[in-house]
Amino acid sequence: MSVTLFKRYRMVFNLTRELPPLIGLTADDSFLAWRPELLQSHAETKFKSFCDEMDTSIFSCLGRRDGCQRLMADIVGRDGFLPEATWLLIHRTNRGTIESCGTIQAVQSGPLTATIQNIGIVPKHRGRGLGAALINKSLLGMQGLGFKQGTLEVTAHNLGAIRLYQRMGFVIDRVVYKSAEIAII
Ligand SMILES: CC(C)(COP(=O)(O)OP(=O)(O)OC[C@H]1O[C@@H](n2cnc3c(N)ncnc32)[C@H](O)[C@@H]1OP(=O)(O)O)[C@@H](O)C(=O)NCCC(=O)NCCS
Repeated sequence: MSVTLFKRYRMVFNLTRELPPLIGLTADDSFLAWRPELLQSHAETKFKSFCDEMDTSIFSCLGRRDGCQRLMADIVGRDGFLPEATWLLIHRTNRGTIESCGTIQAVQSGPLTATIQNIGIVPKHRGRGLGAALINKSLLGMQGLGFKQGTLEVTAHNLGAIRLYQRMGFVIDRVVYKSAEIAII
């Protein structure tokens, strides 16, 4: 095993300004507010969103179903957990079944600051504005609670996600490094 440092950006959104409009959702997409019975659906959606992504190299729990369940349980068990900024996105299929397609969770990280923990959209629903909509929904929840800034961390290689955040109004605040053990083959 070797220890690798991953470059990440802390990005900040100014919540004192007006949020961009919620676009991208169709009549078949809906947000579900946090309730404990949804923990399993959040965890499964998180797993499906991250299991093939680079972030599993840094946060190995994201690449495993049981890891995502433990992570969700950890997030919602924290003192600063913010149910109002935690949402599950569901989609009604042509056959009328319901599938979870996105998850976001947030916690308080300072007196006036809230932080998005993980935002994930499952692969088959990407690229139609749902990620932006879910982030907006979470930021609205933070704003409603009186927070002045919303933050998140993103791996520097995740260029598509960074572009999305910048388009929404997030700015890079600082660089952080996260160490992770990587198996050498
Ligand atoms: C990042 C993510 C949430 C974006 O969700 P989305 O619903 O596709 O986002 P939107 O449709 O609102 O916006 C699309 C933008 O996201 C970017 N994006 C990032 N990864 C993408 C992917 N795998 N497929 C499609 N779009 C992706 C696109 O580049 C696009 O921006 P562009 O038009 O400038 O190219 C989603 O791709 C995802 O869950 N990725 C895996 C998990 C992850 O990396 N989460 C972020 C951790 S900080």
